[in-house]
Amino acid sequence: MPASTLFSPFSLRGLQLPNRIVISPMGQYSADESGRATDWHLMHLGHLAMSGSGLMFTEATAVQPQGRISRHDLGIWSDDHVEPMKRVVDFCRTHGGAKLGMQLYHAGRKGSVSVAWEGQKPVSEADGGWKTFSPSAVAHGGRAMPVALDELGIREAIEAFAAAARRADAVGFDTLEIHGAHGYLIHSFLSPFGNHRTDGWGGSRDNRMRFALAVFDAIRAVWPERKPLGMRLSATDWAEGGWSIDDSVELSAKLREHGCDFVTASSGGVTAEQRLKVHPGYQVPFAERIRREAGVATIAVGLITEARQADEILATGKADLVALARGMMFNPRWPWHSAVELGESVFYPKQYDRSHPSMRGGDFLKPVRDR
Ligand SMILES: Cc1cc2nc3c(=O)[nH]c(=O)nc-3n(C[C@H](O)[C@H](O)[C@H](O)COP(=O)(O)O)c2cc1C
Repeated sequence: MPASTLFSPFSLRGLQLPNRIVISPMGQYSADESGRATDWHLMHLGHLAMSGSGLMFTEATAVQPQGRISRHDLGIWSDDHVEPMKRVVDFCRTHGGAKLGMQLYHAGRKGSVSVAWEGQKPVSEADGGWKTFSPSAVAHGGRAMPVALDELGIREAIEAFAAAARRADAVGFDTLEIHGAHGYLIHSFLSPFGNHRTDGWGGSRDNRMRFALAVFDAIRAVWPERKPLGMRLSATDWAEGGWSIDDSVELSAKLREHGCDFVTASSGGVTAEQRLKVHPGYQVPFAERIRREAGVATIAVGLITEARQADEILATGKADLVALARGMMFNPRWPWHSAVELGESVFYPKQYDRSHPSMRGGDFLKPVRDR
C-alpha cells in the first residue's frame, strides 16, 4: 500500500497511471514553421518523461493552421505531423516512465501573434500572420479583429478536431485533453465575452455549450474506446457577466454524460477585464466542486508546488490528479524529490539509480525500484 495518495495508482478507462502526478501542457513555441516537432521537443518532453510523473501532456497542439497562436506552435492538422511527433513519443516511451497525452486546441481569436518571449504581439497577414476566427467578430484585448465563423467554418473546425484525434492515435498517445480554456476557440464559444451570436451556437448557455460538446462528441467517435478523453476548462472568467463555476459544473456534468473521463480545472484568459488573485492552489476549489457536483474525475492545476500540498488535495478528495507546469520546469525531478519526502518509490531510469539519496552509502548494486 502506498503511504500517500500522490503515489497511488489511478485508472481512466484502459489507462493505468502509476501515480497521480501530471505534467501540465506547456507551449514551447519551438516547432518548425510547418508545426512539426523538433529536437527541442525530443529534449523537453524526453527528459520530463523520466521525471517520475504518471502522465505527461504535450503543449497545446493546433488542429488547423489558422488555429495556432504563433508560427512556432506544434500542429497536428496534417499527416506530415505524425512522424516527427512519433519520433518524440517513441523516444519518451523508450527512456521514460510517464504515460503520454496530447492536448488539442484551436486558438481562435487569440491566434496570429509572436511567440511568448517576444510578447505575443499581433502579427499581420503581411508579416506572415493569418486571419483569425472566432464565434463573433469581437477582438481580444489588443489583438486583431477575428472573422465570425459561419456554419461551414464551424463544421470544418469540429471535423479538424476529429481528424487531429485520429492522427494523435496514429502517433500512439494514450489520452487526449481538449483545450476548452484560456480564451481559445472553445472557451470563446462558452463565454459571453467571446460569443455574441444569435443563432443556435450562441445566446443561451445551452447554445454556447454546443460547440464544446460537438467537438467532444466528434473526437469521442473516432478516439479508441479504451483510451480516456478529457477537457480543460476555464472554470471561471473571473469577471462579472462571464462564464462561471456554476456553468462549468453544468458543462462538466454534460461532458460526463457524453463519455468524458476527466476535467482539468483551469481559469481565465477570455477577457482583459478578469480580476483574479493568485495564491497556492488557487484553482483547487474549482476542481473540487466539479468533481463533487458533476461526478467526473478532475485534475487540479495552478500553483501546486509542494509534495504534501499535492497529497492533501488528493487525500481530501478535492481532485483525482494534480498537474504541475512551472514547478516541473523549475525542478524536473519534482516527483523524485516528492517520493523521497513521502517515503515512496517512483520510476527511475536505471542509468540514474545511483542519484537516489539511499544509494549514497555505497550500496549501489541494489536498484532504486527494489528498495
Ligand atoms: C510556459 C508555459 C506554457 C503553457 N502552455 C500551456 C498550454 O499549451 N496549454 C495549456 O492548457 N496551458 C498552458 N500553460 C498553463 C499551464 O499548463 C498551467 O495550467 C499553469 O501554468 C498553472 O500551473 P502552474 O502553477 O503549475 O504553472 C502554460 C504555462 C506555462 C508556464
